[in-house]
Amino acid sequence: MTTMTPGSAAHDRAPRTPAGSAFIRACRAEPVAHTPVWFMRQAGRSLPEYRRIRDGIGMLESCRQPDLVAEITMQPVRRHGVDAAILFSDIVVPVAAAGIELDIVSGTGPVIADPVRVAADVGRLRRITPEDVGFVDEAVRLLVAALGDTPLIGFAGAPFTLASYLVEGRPSRTYGRTKALMYGEPQIWHALCSRLAEITLEFLRVQIAAGVSAVQLFDSWAGALSEADYRRFVLPYSATVLNGLADAGVPRIHFGVGTAELLAAMGDAGADVVGVDWRTPLDAATVRIGPSHAVQGNLDPCVLLAPWPVIESEVRRVLAEGLAAPGHVFNLGHGVLPETDPGVLTRVVDLVHASSAR
Ligand code: CP3
Repeated sequence: MTTMTPGSAAHDRAPRTPAGSAFIRACRAEPVAHTPVWFMRQAGRSLPEYRRIRDGIGMLESCRQPDLVAEITMQPVRRHGVDAAILFSDIVVPVAAAGIELDIVSGTGPVIADPVRVAADVGRLRRITPEDVGFVDEAVRLLVAALGDTPLIGFAGAPFTLASYLVEGRPSRTYGRTKALMYGEPQIWHALCSRLAEITLEFLRVQIAAGVSAVQLFDSWAGALSEADYRRFVLPYSATVLNGLADAGVPRIHFGVGTAELLAAMGDAGADVVGVDWRTPLDAATVRIGPSHAVQGNLDPCVLLAPWPVIESEVRRVLAEGLAAPGHVFNLGHGVLPETDPGVLTRVVDLVHASSAR
């Protein structure tokens, strides 16, 4: 990242639009006036205003109400002054739109009524059309109008992580059934992931057409795989999604947890930015990923539960290590934990901005 003094050069000439924001510039490895920051799961249970507005409304039902989605998405922007908003939704929303009966159970996560395990099950997963997710189109349009020059991040789950929920039926520790299908029934695995890639690509295209400024592909559970298996069984499908958006003109962020061995492969899949969890320092991650990708991350979410002096020194360490990358978007290494004090998140935003000012 090029060092710049405030009041000079490219950043100040940049238009006041999402495209000229520090977040989009960092994704593109362009010079920035300060390191941008947002938090995965910033819209959610750590905020009392979120818990109030969600009271009595199911998670999936909330995702289908554009006014509610817009309000929840705005909450962390208003409260913390983060550099980007992320659409309030869930990775299983397009799968539900594709005809799979499921619920998001509080404290557990997605639960699939009838898991996908044999060839005929894959047939239950329809292609989706923009009309199937019209509520997402509407929410994004409301948000783009309300957010002004703050960029909105759209997102989707990657085929592997979606497949893991569909096959296991609920969150899993080992992904045993998923891997059994992958190794034992490769044709079914191929059919399942091909269909999931189509659904994911369409879901992201709807969000981009409605105006999101960037997209993040969440392959949260890809870290369960070896690099060889990732490249063989997973990368081709994530690449279909990411490469399918190459001409869309928005940065593509590719994120997973426990992916130290997969970082290069996740960059190769077609991302502009690779998300890194807290296990790999960003300078080491940059060596693995190579100089053509920006990085996003990677404060351990649990650090936010520690006393402030610990948080401060960890934030400074992450910022210093991030300087090794061609672009750095500050984030956590995974989502905000529900028990996080929201006041601490605001202090982290202020600290990132103040201590990274060029
Ligand atoms: O980041 C944001 O603020 C935007 C909203 C968002 C949610 N889910 C809202 C949500 C995003 C980006 C997601 C993505 C998501 N969903 C992922 C990938 C990111 C990750 O954390 O790895 C995954 C794996 C899921 C599946 C899922 N949905 C899980 C594991 C859970 C948590 C279950 C629980 O209650 O502990 C959910 C539910 C969910 N998604 C909640 C929120 C705010 C909590 C539900 C609630 O508030 O009732």
